[in-house]
Amino acid sequence: MEKETLVKDLHFILDCIQNYDQLSEQTKEQITQDTVEYTRDNLNPGWLEYRKSVSDDFTIVEWSDGGDSFYDLNNERYYDFLGGYGIFTAGHRNPEILEPVLKQLERQPMNSQELLEPLRGYLAKIMAEITPGDLNNIFLTSGGAEAVEMSLKLSRLSSGKNWFISAVNAFHGKSYGALSVTGKDIYRKPYLPLIQQVQHVEYGNAAAVAAAIENLIKVGESVAAVILEPIQGEAGVIIPPEGYLKEVRAICDKYEVLLIIDEIQTGMGRTGTLWRCEAEEIVPDIMVFGKSFGGGICPATGIIFKQKLLVNEMVEDPCLLGSPTFAGNPLSSVASLATIRYMLKNDIPQMCKEKGEYILEKLMFLKAKYSEILVDVRGVGLLIAMEFAHPEEGYFTAKELFIRHFLTAGTLNNSKTIRIEPPAVISYEAIEALLHNLDEVFEMIRIKENK
Ligand SMILES: Cc1ncc(COP(=O)(O)O)c(C=O)c1O
Repeated sequence: MEKETLVKDLHFILDCIQNYDQLSEQTKEQITQDTVEYTRDNLNPGWLEYRKSVSDDFTIVEWSDGGDSFYDLNNERYYDFLGGYGIFTAGHRNPEILEPVLKQLERQPMNSQELLEPLRGYLAKIMAEITPGDLNNIFLTSGGAEAVEMSLKLSRLSSGKNWFISAVNAFHGKSYGALSVTGKDIYRKPYLPLIQQVQHVEYGNAAAVAAAIENLIKVGESVAAVILEPIQGEAGVIIPPEGYLKEVRAICDKYEVLLIIDEIQTGMGRTGTLWRCEAEEIVPDIMVFGKSFGGGICPATGIIFKQKLLVNEMVEDPCLLGSPTFAGNPLSSVASLATIRYMLKNDIPQMCKEKGEYILEKLMFLKAKYSEILVDVRGVGLLIAMEFAHPEEGYFTAKELFIRHFLTAGTLNNSKTIRIEPPAVISYEAIEALLHNLDEVFEMIRIKENK
């Protein structure tokens, strides 16, 4: 394509951004058509099929958001009961987060990379204050899998040991290290061999963790860390038995193995406490955080770890663990600082707890009413799952809800499960409307299947 045409095309979309609320019908149509065409030709045609799980209607393109909702190009409102898979705990475009971020954007969005970065310092300090026990030092990253990579590398670096124990069905991301400790066959198989020194054990079974460590030690191997989600999110919101994590903590102490807890999805208030570790009364050696840490405005993730893991080599060369260009950039740091302020000031964990309990109680009624369709509902805070007798019923439900302007979706590792993971600021009216629509959709399924 001619350079002039390319520049003209760039003008088109950038002018749309500049005048985002004054688009003509023709321009909206153009954006929609272009989006479908470019997704098919230059991203992956698979996305068009994949998105069908939510909608057959390719004319719907998302364009703006705010509070508990997002809006399409025609300014049609959709209630967000998926919450960006957990990134929107503080809501969409929360003004208390957005405003400081915009100020930072005006002044200095990215830094020189060479000097000390003040915001990173404040963020490190507040994280040491608000995380459990003696977790003290942070290392920032931009993506969840990247943070998990750092937790694995740090474990090996500071312990000098090799193996990792992880759980079947765990989800820790899809980069090589993170995928190695992820526990779902379809994501792992095409990339084998991954990190070889990983043993997956049954989730929720502390004795299995002890046995794996003991056996490895018996045959002369060394175990660096156990990595677990405190609730398995992508596996379908699997809540382990009470005391499981405490037992695993004791096992790790006994064998001098580090404990990594991946709070990327469960943390930042989502499960009714700021961190799920608090409710479980454990202090991991390394805690991984992400998703809503950037307030739904900037990508921001990282790890926080005990000071004893900061070995001399890391102090001598602070780039040894990693030196990601964009990690802890000023924009992301401001977003995280403002998110933490918002969460503390407004007791967002409590809000998640109360609304979560409300939804769960109502879902229990629906489960009793439609027991042949809905086989289980479970959750903690606003991390809730509905499990269906058959995956098709789950897909049908998500699709029907979307037609009625409620976004939900399945979980990555469990196709029978639909998650409900809305922003903490979701209104009770929206919750009532969702429940009412769920009731109607289940009735449709019952009629359809003659149940
Ligand atoms: C517990 C957990 N760990 C890691 C990840 C990976 O995060 P990202 O998608 O940002 O790489 C996820 C994403 O869903 C997650 O839920």
